[in-house]
Amino acid sequence: MKLLSKKVMCNSHGQDSSYFLGWQEYEKNPYDETRNPKGIIQMGLAENQLSFDLLESWLAQNPDAAGFKRNGESIFRELALFQDYHGLPAFKNALAQFMAEIRGNKVSFDSNKLVLTAGATSANETLMFCLADHGDAFLLPTPYYPGFDRDLKWRTGAEIVPIECTSSNGFRITESALEEAYQEAKRRNLRVKGVLVTNPSNPLGTTLSNQEIQLLLTFISTKNIHLISDEIYSGAVFNSPSFVSVMEILIENNYMNSEVWDRVHIVYSLSKDLGLPGFRIGAIYSNDELVVAAATKMSSFGLISSQTQYLLSAMLSDKKFTKMYIYENQKRLKKRHEMLVQGLQNAGISCLDSNAGLFCWVDMRHLLRSNTFDAEIELWKKIVYNVGLNISPGSSCHCTEPGWFRACFANMSEDTLNLAIQRLKAFVDSTNNNIQNHHQSSLSSKKKSFSKWVFRLSFNDGRQRER
Ligand SMILES: Cc1ncc(COP(=O)(O)O)c(C=O)c1O
Repeated sequence: MKLLSKKVMCNSHGQDSSYFLGWQEYEKNPYDETRNPKGIIQMGLAENQLSFDLLESWLAQNPDAAGFKRNGESIFRELALFQDYHGLPAFKNALAQFMAEIRGNKVSFDSNKLVLTAGATSANETLMFCLADHGDAFLLPTPYYPGFDRDLKWRTGAEIVPIECTSSNGFRITESALEEAYQEAKRRNLRVKGVLVTNPSNPLGTTLSNQEIQLLLTFISTKNIHLISDEIYSGAVFNSPSFVSVMEILIENNYMNSEVWDRVHIVYSLSKDLGLPGFRIGAIYSNDELVVAAATKMSSFGLISSQTQYLLSAMLSDKKFTKMYIYENQKRLKKRHEMLVQGLQNAGISCLDSNAGLFCWVDMRHLLRSNTFDAEIELWKKIVYNVGLNISPGSSCHCTEPGWFRACFANMSEDTLNLAIQRLKAFVDSTNNNIQNHHQSSLSSKKKSFSKWVFRLSFNDGRQRER
């Protein structure tokens, strides 16, 4: 018997889901063009590697930023000692302005309402600690990012109740689905403290419509609860409709003087839009002073290092660079997205119409042996082990319909993506051939047994006639 905490022994972190298992399988046999050309291609990781060259050339032109220097003078000692959990003011200003720029400067952000965290992971958990007690619930539209089980539930003891969205309306959030989730929480004796959405959605790659955001605001207003809008992919919107932040709708609809204003919280991070998940740069933006104060104190448990803040404050303050970067990055994402959608279409596979993110939500329902989650996992295993692609099954995102998969397109080279598409097409073709062969062989065995049967009949007939 191990003398460890219940937290360690419980598995509410969800890390044993196929989403994370797929990563482990990839690690055992990773694809490499020369060293392991038959290995597994990682399509289960929402990383953005498409614009590293832009970041690298900025670094080359601005050596002071990464070299701990200001006007050529070393500030190593200053950065080594800086430990204020309020963050570097220059960085917070630059981040607030970058967030506004991504939203077309239709809204502005006050850096005093910004709390820095080690990535969106830490931001989401910190918000849970601020808004929910052990056993309180947040409602989340399905399918949702598998990491939320860990981030929202594991250490905080909060619960997630799904808002069930389906393909019948393109997985849009409806009033009845919201109400149903709320009632389900009540049936489970859970106190609902809020709704959490990702806009744009991971894994759908779609942006919320104005109507959906308004519906959410009305819902949280009548139920007297919070709304967290995780806008980590807000800079990765590459097609119309353009991104609308909850902040825009709040201002447009004059929510500033209502209680709702204080109950809406935005989560952001540079992990996706700048492709820097290793740097751990996240933030909470809240209009509630108490939340900002408490979250700032809690941020001691997951701060952004001062040299990272220093580097990024220089990069994000370079307006010419950020403008060019946002535009160019979106153009590259759009091209990749088109490549994958087109390639899958050639293989007879369609995707949910999407305009954002680093992935497609792929419909493989027609390849399932039966309409069950067992069949989904069976297909997933074939795709991982036989085809050599790690994609994420919809069930790991708590999708309620079997047969959907998330496939990422921005964490690899164009050649690797082409190979992944070829592998999948070959698999689908062979599956179709097998089905056809099976069909034909069952037809021909039917024919054979029919002719045998006719032969037997006629033979019998003959015998009978002989008799
Ligand atoms: C919706 C969403 N929120 C949060 C995160 C975590 O991001 P970070 O690397 O900034 O912790 C992810 C990462 O995939 C995500 O997709």
